[in-house]
Amino acid sequence: ATAATAVALTVTGAAGAMAACDDGEVVIKLSHVTNTDKHPKGLAASLLQERVNEEMNGKACMEVYPNSTLYNDDQVLEAMLQGDVQMAAPSLSKFEQFTKQFRIFDLPFMFKNMAAVDEFQNSETGQAMKESMVRRGLLGLGFWHNGLKQMSANKPLELPTDAAGLKFRVQPSEVIKAQMEAIGVSPQPMAFSEVYGALQTGVVDGQENTWSNIYGQKFFEVQDGVTETNHGLLDYMLVTSVDFWDSLDDDVREQLSTIVDEVTSTRNAAIAEVDADARQAVLDAGGVIRELSPEARQAWVDAMLPVWDQFREDVGQENIDAAQAIND
Ligand code: LMR
Repeated sequence: ATAATAVALTVTGAAGAMAACDDGEVVIKLSHVTNTDKHPKGLAASLLQERVNEEMNGKACMEVYPNSTLYNDDQVLEAMLQGDVQMAAPSLSKFEQFTKQFRIFDLPFMFKNMAAVDEFQNSETGQAMKESMVRRGLLGLGFWHNGLKQMSANKPLELPTDAAGLKFRVQPSEVIKAQMEAIGVSPQPMAFSEVYGALQTGVVDGQENTWSNIYGQKFFEVQDGVTETNHGLLDYMLVTSVDFWDSLDDDVREQLSTIVDEVTSTRNAAIAEVDADARQAVLDAGGVIRELSPEARQAWVDAMLPVWDQFREDVGQENIDAAQAIND
């Protein structure tokens, strides 16, 4: 693909990015589930596509499929192992079947802000996690930020007791299920693409997600409001298959790896801005945001913190200690 094609692709990206790959180019399909505008993952994937298609023209060609147009998150990792897709960036909550190490990222109130998350992920412990799934055929290429999660429901939520008895959509994570059960919520695992409809029809009462997802999927339209709890993290791992990665020529792998690292640090450094933009976009579109008093926030902390005890063994006390030391 030429550079001109790559630019045109970025513009039409949401339509499914059918890149004109030339003969002899390594084809890299990247499948993901979010929108592309005002979204950390959408923006990172677009930048990656642009740079690969421009700088690796003749050697490699990337096609990005956003908005669950190719696969849902519960299909994409299997598809990757089959060789049907070469890259994906599921949230860290979607790797249950491949590693339990990522459970630390789902534990409520583990990281005080995104700077702490960034520091932990870039530590030796964090970077080693990229290789925690190699024996299962997957290789992590980089952590991609999204942000902290907020709670929404079809009624006002101020205290965790307001959520008790409700049904919330959750990602398929044991930690998140336990977190919801700790506040008396019935967790309903469901694919991301189905959440809006489920909220609209009342199949579930509420959900938790980041500002970019609440805005991008328009959840605020079918909820009473969003409560700014910042209670947990939603981040991604950009992954590939070990087979695909090993099949690349050394020079191609090296160049691709450099581009991935640069895109990762560029987009991660911009996360505060993208998150704030999405929050503002919710307000501009008429969404209701409720901020918590320090006392109310403490009630959420007190209700959810006992969940750590259930997962200390999977996660490792030393990793919890390392994350907490960064918060201090
Ligand atoms: C979700 O399922 O809620 C998120 O993981 C979707 C995403 O990729 O941000």
